[in-house]
Order: sequence, then C-alpha cells, then structure tokens
Amino acid sequence: MKSTIGKNITISLYGESHGESIGVVIDGLEAGIKLNLDAVQAQLDKRRAKGKISTQRHEEDLFHITSGFFNGCTTGTPLHIQIMNKEQHSRDYTPQLLRPSHADYTAYVKYHGCQDYRGGGHFSGRITAPLVAAGAIAQQILEKKGILIGTHIKQCMDIHDREFDDLNADLKALSAMDFAVLDNDAQSAMIKLIEAAAAQKDSVGGILETMILNVPAGIGEPYFHSIESNLSAYLFSVPAVKGVEFGMGFDFVNHYGSEANDAWLMSGDKIVSKTNNNGGINGGIANGMPILFRTVIKPTPSIFKPQQTVDYNEKKETILELKGRHDPAIFHRARVVVDAVTALCLLDLCVEAYGGKWMRD
Ligand SMILES: Cc1cc2nc3c(=O)[nH]c(=O)nc-3n(C[C@H](O)[C@H](O)[C@H](O)COP(=O)(O)O)c2cc1C
Repeated sequence: MKSTIGKNITISLYGESHGESIGVVIDGLEAGIKLNLDAVQAQLDKRRAKGKISTQRHEEDLFHITSGFFNGCTTGTPLHIQIMNKEQHSRDYTPQLLRPSHADYTAYVKYHGCQDYRGGGHFSGRITAPLVAAGAIAQQILEKKGILIGTHIKQCMDIHDREFDDLNADLKALSAMDFAVLDNDAQSAMIKLIEAAAAQKDSVGGILETMILNVPAGIGEPYFHSIESNLSAYLFSVPAVKGVEFGMGFDFVNHYGSEANDAWLMSGDKIVSKTNNNGGINGGIANGMPILFRTVIKPTPSIFKPQQTVDYNEKKETILELKGRHDPAIFHRARVVVDAVTALCLLDLCVEAYGGKWMRD
C-alpha cells in the first residue's frame, strides 16, 4: 500500500528515524498561495522535545522546501518538505528484542527483517515532524477562510483540564502554548506526573480534545466519506493513537435521547443547536456547530523498566532492559500532530466541496 492519504490534497510521507532525512510531498495545492514559513517553523518547534517530559533526543527540525514553492508562493506542483536527521544514536537498538506495544514485531513479520529498525525506523514518532509541517500549511490556508483548529490536553491519569469556554480565546491561548493545558494548576500537575513517571522508568498516556471553529455547514459526505470516517483515518495514522470519539462519544451510552439530542434554535437568521453533543456533525456532514472530538494517546511503549518479551531470532522469552532516549509521555507532543492531520483532512474536504480555486480566492 502506498504511504499516501487524501483525495484532492494528497500527502505522501517518507523516512526513518535514523535515516538521512524524513519528509512529505503535498500534492494538489493550488498555485499562488502565499505561505508564511515562520509559522510552519513555529508549529514544528511546538512538537520538538523539551525538558524532562520528553525524549533527550534534541533535533533542530529545521525544514527545507525543495520544490513546489517559488517567490513566496506555491507553484501548484508537488511541494516537497525535507527535514534532516542529525541526532541519531543507532547503537542503542537491539531489534530482535521486541519492544512490547511498539511495532518491532509487526515490522519483522511484514518486512521479513528488511526494515530499518534503528530508532523504530518508519514507525518512530519522529516521522510526525513532516506531518506537522504539511499540516501547518493546510492550517494557514484554512485560517484565511476563518476555520480555526485547536487542541488541549484534556486528561492525564486523574488530572483534568477545564472545559473549553470562550472558544476563540481558548484556541488563541492554545496556539501559543508548548504544553497545551488551559488550566494552570492542571498544567503543572500533569507536568509533575510525567516527570514522576519518568523517574520511575515508566510512561503515561493522555486524552487530547480538539475543536474546529467555523466549518461551513454542508461540508462532508454521507456514509463512507463522512467527516468522522475521514478524520478517523487521519487521526489513527498518528502513532500511539488508540481511540477517537466525536461529540459526546462513548458517554452517549449514559443518556436518553431526550437528553442527548441537540435541539435546533434560530440565532438571527442562522440555524444553530442548543447543545453540541454530536460534535458538529450529522449524517457525516458538518452542521455548522464547532466540530469536537477526542483522541486517546497511549503511554509510550519504550519504557526503561524491565519488561517481558521475546527474542525474535532465538524465539525465546527474555527480559528487555531498554537503552536509548524516549518520551516518557507522547500526548503533549502529539497534540500538534493532531492539529496538523486535522487541518490536512479538513482542507481535503473543503477542496472536495468548493474546488481547488477556493484555496486562494
Ligand atoms: C510525537 C510522538 C513521539 C513518540 N515518541 C515515542 C518514543 O519516544 N518511544 C516510543 O516507544 N514510542 C514513541 N511514539 C509512539 C510510537 O511511534 C508508536 O507507539 C509505535 O509506532 C506503535 O504504533 P501504535 O502505538 O500506533 O500501535 C511516539 C509517537 C508520537 C506521535
């Protein structure tokens, strides 16, 4: 299968964690779109590892556009973004000792030992850097149309962020944050929790909550190409994502229809709903309310506590004592990746609805 997603705006992702470079080709962008490259770098910087709560592999993540961009604008031909790998420590990896919950075993089976296992190879979270760069371009195009995307860390273990409140102000605040938690106390408690897990040679997971504002009603398709189906395909492409729910999600099970239904109201000449339990989507199509979904990111598989595993070559059970550098939590870095893939998906859907010229009108 090709490592490509999208219909109108396609992105093809390539690279390995310890290879020379990683990157993405974006195809389908209209010619003449002005791009702010500083804003792309700013998104990449948010994903970069910082402090004790992230891996000690510190990559600069400076990006180069090698084609499809000229005189400050897109040319309309495929746009290639490249990011060099500079901080590899390849000796830390013994691929035959399969890391529990990572893709070491499945990669062996699928690629029969030909895979570049160094640093997790193609399955490394590192490959999400070019996704973030591509997503930042999509985000810029959407923002010019008033469509805004923001994600906060909703929960880590028993620590909860506050709910979204003033939506525009919250999204603005989140866009400036490295560790995207709206409540200051919850923010410092989560950071302490990650540090404590790291000190115990362990890792933790978290729930991200994403809001998309000003998606015009009518975007999306029924059944197979619903907004939920499309977004889920993008979101589940992000390594370590193990669940996605829209609106009230799995909590629908606790409510009667009379409580769960979103009553329709008039707001001036606009049809709106009183509540937004369906997360802005009905029948796969945007209803004009904010699109709301949550993504759960599992705890980092690579932990430094001894773990039961199998030696693939010897076919013997053994204990894995990991070396190397790993994130004690992924979710705070994955949040920018979630924003990126959301933007790429939404741009694709908007171009499906309005055509390519919409991107620069
Ligand atoms: C931003 C980001 C950083 C990640 N960092 C690590 C890491 O340091 N160590 C690790 O074992 N997994 C890390 N992962 C997760 C693995 O890539 C992922 O769990 C693995 O490929 C298996 O895929 P799955 O969890 O989707 O099944 C990271 C993922 C993301 C999105």
